[in-house]
Amino acid sequence: MATNTFPDAFLWGTATSSHQIEGNNVNNDWWEWEQEPGNIKNGDRSGAACDGWNRYAADYDLLRDLNQNAYRFSIEWSRVEPKEGQFDKAALDRYLDMLRQLRKRGIEPFVTLHHFTNPRWLAPRKYWVDDETPAAFERYAKAVVDHFGDEGPRFWMTFNEPMVLITMGYVLGQWLPKHRNFGEAGRVFLNLLEAHRRAYKVIKARHPQAQIGLANNMSPFQAYPGLDAGAAGAGGQGGAGRGSWLNRFAASLVNGTFNWPFLEALRTGRARIPVFGVNHYAPELKGTQDWVGLNYYTRGVIRFNPLHPVTSLVPQPPAPGVEQTSMGNEVYPAGIHQCLTELWAKFKPLPIYVTENGVSVPDDKRREAYILSHLAQVKRAIDEGIDIRGYFYWTSTDNFEWSEGYHQRFGIIEVDFATQARTVRPSGWVYGEIAKHNRLPG
Ligand code: FCB
Repeated sequence: MATNTFPDAFLWGTATSSHQIEGNNVNNDWWEWEQEPGNIKNGDRSGAACDGWNRYAADYDLLRDLNQNAYRFSIEWSRVEPKEGQFDKAALDRYLDMLRQLRKRGIEPFVTLHHFTNPRWLAPRKYWVDDETPAAFERYAKAVVDHFGDEGPRFWMTFNEPMVLITMGYVLGQWLPKHRNFGEAGRVFLNLLEAHRRAYKVIKARHPQAQIGLANNMSPFQAYPGLDAGAAGAGGQGGAGRGSWLNRFAASLVNGTFNWPFLEALRTGRARIPVFGVNHYAPELKGTQDWVGLNYYTRGVIRFNPLHPVTSLVPQPPAPGVEQTSMGNEVYPAGIHQCLTELWAKFKPLPIYVTENGVSVPDDKRREAYILSHLAQVKRAIDEGIDIRGYFYWTSTDNFEWSEGYHQRFGIIEVDFATQARTVRPSGWVYGEIAKHNRLPG
């Protein structure tokens, strides 16, 4: 019988990334990019961010007060290796202290090795386009693993959202290196896979018990006007016929290009993205994943325009009247259930963790509603037999939201960036109660 109670030992956490919270990551590519006017909304720069580099212990106290038993954070490669081949022991010590401080509070650390940012010394090599970069990443991963020694975390993620990194940097060209080049996108795809494989081996060699995955962003992609019943009226103009067939084709192309290739390559050893011209068999990739990480925010409705074949593959803005977030995304809780169902169908028996799900809204009541509606869908998937073991809300403290800068507020903890004061939002307390009782209210 379905109840509101989650499985025993379910992990309740929040997710963060180094560049978005630490402050003063002066040696990475994003820092450099932020200095150039026009790249970040309102001319924002990450600057001190929420000073997580210095305030982590106090922030972890708040997480403990919110009954959290897990926390996801990332290690900043450019801090650990600010110059090529030179590792900063003090930086590594601080990350080790983060692990200790979390454990002291009964919080299980989930560590990401790469969350979008790169050391600037990779610039002359065009970052991930260069075939030498996976070896550099392996060396970095090894330095981290060796430094942590027996205190290394049980849960690791190699990459955050590799397909987002590729899409934003090399397909749409909206983030560094601002290229639009399918050939490069294909190279980056293969190099990220190879870097993942190498890091996986390095971690396993030291910690055979480690559980290693990555955070894969997914959206159900649906054809315009093929919206489901609730939104069909608003989105339904356009009718059936040629447009609709094209849209269905385009939606399935985006689904196949964006949602699946990275994970599929790790399952089958086949690295394949037809639109990038990549179809490469690398059997050594097979089985280099112990669990599946899902980052879910919204669905994508695709309306293909042959005159703009690339940009029209970007999802449509939500139909009028549909609830949307400050990021312009539709609130679509059923989508998380769909992603979990599809992941399980392809990757069972690997357990699934929701490594990110969250919302930026001006009204915290809506954040609370978002959390509750999405958790209800997660619970539904669990009740249907899917092995989901944890949920990480994005994010704990308000932070630097990439090219959106500081006006997007995702946190369950509000930050006053002038004083660095923290205030837990009501939605945070609600989430804290869910974690405490391991059940949804009601
Ligand atoms: C995800 C990113 C994360 C954050 C949220 C809002 O795609 O992984 O860093 O920006 O979106």
